[in-house]
Amino acid sequence: MAIEFNDAPQEERIVTSAFTRDDEETEVSLRPHTMGEYIGQEKAKENLSVFIKAAKQRGDQLDHVLLYGPPGLGKTTLAGIIAAEMGVNIRITSGPAIEKAGDLAALLTNLNKNDVLFIDEIHRLNRAVEEILYPAMEDFALDIIIGKGPAARSVRLDLPRFTLIGATTRAGRISGPLRDRFGVVSRLELYNTAELAAIVMRSANILGIAIDEGGATEIARRSRGTPRIANRLIKRVRDFAQVAGSDTIDQAAAQRALAALDIDPLGLDMIDRRMLESIIYNFAGGPVGLDTLAATIGEEAVTLEDVYEPYLMQIGFLNRTPRGRCATQKAYQHLGIPFQGQLEL
Ligand code: ADE
Repeated sequence: MAIEFNDAPQEERIVTSAFTRDDEETEVSLRPHTMGEYIGQEKAKENLSVFIKAAKQRGDQLDHVLLYGPPGLGKTTLAGIIAAEMGVNIRITSGPAIEKAGDLAALLTNLNKNDVLFIDEIHRLNRAVEEILYPAMEDFALDIIIGKGPAARSVRLDLPRFTLIGATTRAGRISGPLRDRFGVVSRLELYNTAELAAIVMRSANILGIAIDEGGATEIARRSRGTPRIANRLIKRVRDFAQVAGSDTIDQAAAQRALAALDIDPLGLDMIDRRMLESIIYNFAGGPVGLDTLAATIGEEAVTLEDVYEPYLMQIGFLNRTPRGRCATQKAYQHLGIPFQGQLEL
């Protein structure tokens, strides 16, 4: 069976890191609940563990935390773990879901002391809402306007001390004043193959799927550094293995299934290849501006930047230069295109 990816929008790519409906069920059942169970992100875990311990010793709320990094790396999961380790409740929402200042006021006034409010995609908050957030974060206060016109007056309501955990794909996406109000800013990195293989083994175990080291490593290698993709691939590979009559997913079974899904040995799919080929054939290897490239391949510039580029840069296939994007010699080699040297960079 061949899966057609050519014109699949982001949500339909099997290697998309965007959150899909199918992931919801899987992610909730696979989600680790403690720092000990959470694999990878050692630096972020280490630092956060210190801050959590210190806050608990003082009996204070944890400082506000900003988590940033490409989608699918476990920001929501980590927020849940932080709340669990603090022994407090977490309320989960997202930037686009908070439409009016009143929506945020309702969320804030319902928190208990030291609770966590998690706002995913915090860069998508609108201005009016963001302005309510400033005094809430800084002074644990809510400024509300009562009345209209000349009779209007501002009343300050006290809020419980709480922790805001914001998540975004890039720290540069949020406004300076908002970023400055986070005491802890933590960057999540793409996972390496060994970490992803450990995540695959753990997830397979929870889902009751038999897999060996070789099978787990093969899935890990093709998951673009992203647990969400790894967890999705396990289930698709299981389908192929089951139909082929193998009871354990080994390396050969994983390779066959992933090839059938058009995911190459490095995890690139048709869209990644199209992006690199466009840079190479249409723009002589680059540099090409992000917007031009996005228009040429029919994707949104932000999607290219947040979803496709981090992995292509991590594996050394793409360079971001001040004048635009360039495909590297390694990318030419992988695609089997002769490299004739680029125009001056
Ligand atoms: N599932 C998704 N991300 C994970 C992680 N970092 N550790 C363990 N399981 C996960």
